[in-house]
Amino acid sequence: MHRKKFYTAISTIAFGWAAVAAPALATAAGDGERLGSIEKRAWGKTQDNRTVCVYALANANGMSARITDYGGIVVSLTAPDRNGKYEDVVLGYGTLAEYVKDSPYFGSVVGRFGNRIARGKFSLDGQEYTLAVNNGPNHLHGGLKGFDKVIWESEALIRDGAVGVRLHYLSPDGEEGYPGNLDVTVHYWLTDANELRIEYSATTDKATPVNPTHHSYFNLAGAGNGDILGHELMLAADRFTPVDEGLIPTGELRPVAGTPFDFARPTAIGARVGDDDLQLKYGRGYDHNFVLSRWDGKLRLAATVYEPKSGRLMEVLTTEPGVQFYCGNFLDGSNIGKGGKPYEHRYGFCLETQHFPDSPNRPEFPSCTLRPGEQYHHTTVYRFSIK
Ligand code: BGC
Repeated sequence: MHRKKFYTAISTIAFGWAAVAAPALATAAGDGERLGSIEKRAWGKTQDNRTVCVYALANANGMSARITDYGGIVVSLTAPDRNGKYEDVVLGYGTLAEYVKDSPYFGSVVGRFGNRIARGKFSLDGQEYTLAVNNGPNHLHGGLKGFDKVIWESEALIRDGAVGVRLHYLSPDGEEGYPGNLDVTVHYWLTDANELRIEYSATTDKATPVNPTHHSYFNLAGAGNGDILGHELMLAADRFTPVDEGLIPTGELRPVAGTPFDFARPTAIGARVGDDDLQLKYGRGYDHNFVLSRWDGKLRLAATVYEPKSGRLMEVLTTEPGVQFYCGNFLDGSNIGKGGKPYEHRYGFCLETQHFPDSPNRPEFPSCTLRPGEQYHHTTVYRFSIK
């Protein structure tokens, strides 16, 4: 019999645990069944004295997440192993100050444009735009102060079978060089199906490129517990976008068949990452956009990742045409994460669902232009189970 669940959240802004009321949870039947919960509390202040909050979410199964309104960062996310043991599977820091100081986009919302735009320039409707350049000669992940470094308006959300956070940000005309006031909303949901579901929407008052993504670094053996080279990856992609030395796509959509980029069948990330291959040299490993084979704008399976020791399986579903698979090549132990654990080379991997890098300069790629009167939508789901 279906039992309707009622979720109640208490949202309190105050420093410290003591001032925060415990969430009130109830079922219609009142039988003590475990339900999701969400709590909001202050987490710290930025240098300009603005309060940053963090939401603690839990689903009915005991899976939990912490999400902050600073950069929309997923600070932690737990998932059970085959013995039912929950462990934090995303890299990140314990404190706000560490995120503000230096983060390689751990867990953040990336935008306006995920990945690179060549030389920070593009033309749209006959007008040339110049963006902030922050990655050699190129624009990366929205520029010097992208969506990962702003404070979002936020509120707790509750619905049947999920708890969530709504984030809202008005990116002003000209920010980082982009045209148009871009009104962006991101919904994070932690569902009772053990999913982290991310829904993006946006509107603009001038034509502008839009390509937000999510930048969690996953390690299904637990954050800080070794490298990810034994994780088995499947990518539902028959082509990828090869790049030049600066990681800008050449424009080619190259078949993966017969190359180290073929993940049609689940293959250990480390199996071919050291192969003598020019693309792997340019990326210092995998740092490439994969072209999803069955893209039609519907939510479809893009990737699976299995960690054999823990039994954890993560499925990635998206409405986007591409996914950037980055295997943590730039991690070098200098970021000391939660619990004092250093994040060494390839201790985490990202699967960033997106339109292809440098799309604003590639009319042959799916368009990422949003125009006044149009609605941008993008949904991505990271689903956890065991095998
Ligand atoms: C990019 C990498 C970059 C990393 C962190 C990834 O999305 O593809 O080249 O190093 O983000 O900035």
